[in-house]
Amino acid sequence: MKGVKIEKLEKFDRDTLERLVEIYMDGYEGLREYGGEGVDYARGYLRWCWVKAKDGFFVAKVGGEIVGFIVCDRDWHSKYEERSVGAVHEFVIDSRFQGKGIGRALMDTCLRYLEESYDRIELWVGEKNEGAKHFYEEYGFRVVGKERIWRRMVLDLKKNEKNDKAKSRNTDGD
Ligand code: ACO
Repeated sequence: MKGVKIEKLEKFDRDTLERLVEIYMDGYEGLREYGGEGVDYARGYLRWCWVKAKDGFFVAKVGGEIVGFIVCDRDWHSKYEERSVGAVHEFVIDSRFQGKGIGRALMDTCLRYLEESYDRIELWVGEKNEGAKHFYEEYGFRVVGKERIWRRMVLDLKKNEKNDKAKSRNTDGD
């Protein structure tokens, strides 16, 4: 879609939070099990996202209005991996703007941001959220675990696989 700008969120003021809440509530319409549990919950959760990962909080704007966002964390200890990995905490597009390539633009930005630090990205998605699972699978994410209604997906980044291979070649002869 033309006219989409991807930016780092610079300020988390009241109006911005209310717009993010609106998108979160709207984007998960029909998927309430997995998101948009309520406005109060959403405010608290999105504040948590901002505090935890403000440096990786990217928004998509159309005509100056935020229409979607992704929250990417460079400092996430995964208890399942028993190490730090890159993480995507939240990812949602206003329903009026879904299916227009905006999610892809945000995810591309997120992966460029995370791949500088990590070779593995982790996220959790609802078990019946077929649209999102399909989206992630197209990027190469795969389901590696489950917890109640959630599926854990990971993506191994190619750039770093090459680095790892290079590293193992260097250590093979040691
Ligand atoms: N069903 C099937 N495939 C889909 C769907 C869908 N509902 N949505 C996206 N895709 C796939 C398509 O293959 C599409 O490729 P195409 O353009 O060649 O057809 C590709 O993903 C890219 O689509 P975009 O238009 O870039 O995706 P969009 O802007 O709609 O963003 C997102 C995807 C974030 C999943 C959006 O649909 C959304 O907000 N969904 C509701 C909230 C949600 O489920 N968020 C993810 C939860 S998990 C988490 O946050 C870690």
